[in-house]
Amino acid sequence: MLLQRLPLQTAFRGFLKPTPHSLHHHLLYTTKMSSAMKISDSMLDGLINQANEELNASNLYLSMSLWFHDLELPGSAQWCRTHSDEERTHALKIFDHIVKRRAKGGMVRSLEEQKFSFETPVQAWEFALNAERENSKRFHRLMAQARNESDFTTDTFLQWFINEQLEEESAVEDIFTNAKGVEQTKGLYREYDKNIVNKEH
Ligand SMILES: [Fe+2]
Ligand SMILES: [Fe+2]
Repeated sequence: MLLQRLPLQTAFRGFLKPTPHSLHHHLLYTTKMSSAMKISDSMLDGLINQANEELNASNLYLSMSLWFHDLELPGSAQWCRTHSDEERTHALKIFDHIVKRRAKGGMVRSLEEQKFSFETPVQAWEFALNAERENSKRFHRLMAQARNESDFTTDTFLQWFINEQLEEESAVEDIFTNAKGVEQTKGLYREYDKNIVNKEH
C-alpha cells in the first residue's frame, strides 16, 4: 500500500512547491488545463486570410467558367462552376471553425480586382494550376505555424485541407496536361470539352 501511494504524494508535494524533480508533473497539469479553443492572434489572422484566399479562388473559377462560356465550351465552364462552389465551401469551413473556437474578428475582405487574360484554354488551366500550387504553399505555411505553436486543434483542422490540395492540384494538372496534348489539333479541345464535366475535382 505504501509503495502505491508514494508516487501520488510525491506529485502532490511537487505541485505545491515546484522543484526540478516535479517539473514533469507540473507540465502535465498545465497541458491538461489548456483549451482546445485557444488560438493565437497570428494563427487566427492566418486562418482569416486563408478563408479569403478561398473566396478569391472561388471567384477565379467563376471567371474561368464565364470565359469558357464565351468560347462555347460548356463542359469546361461547368467544371469551373462546380469547382467555384467547392472553393466557397472551403472558405465557409474555415469561417465556421473560427466561430466554433469563439475567436473574434473573422471577416470577408473586399477583393482586389482580379484581372485574368487567357488566350487559350491551356493558358487558363495553367493559371489555375499555378493558383492551386500557391494555395498549397499557404496551407503548408499555416500548418508549420500551427506545429510551431503546438496548436493541435488547428493542426488537426488543417489536415483535411492539406489532403484536399493534393486532390485539387492533381485534378487540375490532369486537365492541363490533357488540354496541352490536344491543343495542337484544331477542334480537338472542343471534343475534349465534352468529357471534362465528368473529371474529378
Ligand atoms: Fe480550396
Ligand atoms: Fe483549390
